[in-house]
Amino acid sequence: MVKSVNSGSAILVEGGKPLKGTVAISGAKNSALPIICGSLLSSNTVVLENIPLLKDVYWIIEVLTALGARCEFNNGTVTIDPTKVNSYSASYEFVRRMRASFLVLGPLLARFKKASVPLPGGCNIGPRPVSEHTEAMKQLGANVDLDKGIVHASAKKLVGATVAFNIPSVGATENVLMSAVFAEGTTVLENCAEEPEVEDLVNFLISMGADIEKAGSRRLVIRGVKELSQKSPYRIIPDRIEAGTYILAIASTAGEGKVINCNPHHLTTFLDKLSDSGIPIEIGEREIWVKGPETFSPMIIHTHPYPGFPTDLQPQTVALLTKASGVSSVTDEIFPQRFSYVPELQRMGAKIELGGSKATIHGSTDKLTGAPVQGTDIRGCAALVIAALMAKGKSIVNGFEHLERGYENFLEKLLALGAEVSLVDRSTKINDK
Ligand code: UD1
Repeated sequence: MVKSVNSGSAILVEGGKPLKGTVAISGAKNSALPIICGSLLSSNTVVLENIPLLKDVYWIIEVLTALGARCEFNNGTVTIDPTKVNSYSASYEFVRRMRASFLVLGPLLARFKKASVPLPGGCNIGPRPVSEHTEAMKQLGANVDLDKGIVHASAKKLVGATVAFNIPSVGATENVLMSAVFAEGTTVLENCAEEPEVEDLVNFLISMGADIEKAGSRRLVIRGVKELSQKSPYRIIPDRIEAGTYILAIASTAGEGKVINCNPHHLTTFLDKLSDSGIPIEIGEREIWVKGPETFSPMIIHTHPYPGFPTDLQPQTVALLTKASGVSSVTDEIFPQRFSYVPELQRMGAKIELGGSKATIHGSTDKLTGAPVQGTDIRGCAALVIAALMAKGKSIVNGFEHLERGYENFLEKLLALGAEVSLVDRSTKINDK
């Protein structure tokens, strides 16, 4: 099981060193979480491979364990026996830590025709409602109420229907898809999210006997089946956001390296942006090579649902753009408030203006200056580490607990690329070291 390395710890970074070498990418966090929830639908034991050792994964396993599932996590393989699940109520104690826990709603509703899951609260990247999840479940015949902060869903039976999402929400597509696998008749989901992690969940469910068809753009057709069971272990896809983060770290520090065990085709829009601005990129079947130039052109970026530019790489890209040869703009169309890391970058000397959902970044050849900074979410924290790696002098990036949620062996992988990083107590002052 995952041990918190040292919650409340920080990363000390000695900046200014180009990262060089090879880094292997772990399994995708955002596939692991829904697929672990989807295991609740199986009538036999499920084995999942390539699962990253992350706090978020550990937490979702705790949610399932509290429902009565028997779970083991060994060396990247999670074994889940969902047959002993004896509760359809997820506890607030677990759900409050991570929004993705809300993804047990669909599978519990499908299996027990009853589910109670606390409404996930706000989070550090802005408001994240779940009405797209619950409204769609209502259209399949569920009664859904909110009482004292808990979403209660129930149905005598679920019946297939045509549901068009207002937004191609990743979580809603996954949750509703899982709620529909046993529904009587045919369910058609329109305006679905098409992120590779959604496709991974679809493939996992199909491998267990679900009848799901991708019928055109953003459209899934689900014909209800009686039972799902696993025949052989399922291996989840590599983490495209982790891969993108290391590419940005290498490029930002004018380094040179290879990211291996990844799927470059999941990063096409992102890699094209880098390439178009003069950052040399080469892709192989399962690897990406990058060389960080001393200078490159500014970029105009708008985040969009897949296959658009991913919001989960927005903060790390802004860190890179602080050294572009001109003015860049980055607009987050998905999470307009996802800029809490910007004031920290400004403290390191970055020239960034914020207006609404847009950051305007004045790139400069002057290096950022090391400083103590505070990260408040996974990707924002990764952006601050990238900035610290680029900066002159030492930085202390607080918020390591966020990185533990999304990056397997983060420090080890950076060290292997030659970064000068170490874990320190959050009370450490830069001058102490
Ligand atoms: C998932 C990812 C997260 C990523 C995000 C967008 C997981 C575990 N997390 O989050 O890392 O940043 O996709 O790619 O996979 N929305 C509504 N109503 C709803 C649901 C969503 O308005 O009922 C809005 C959200 O506020 C947001 C947009 O839709 O503006 C996209 O959110 P969504 O795709 O649902 O993100 P998550 O599934 O929460």
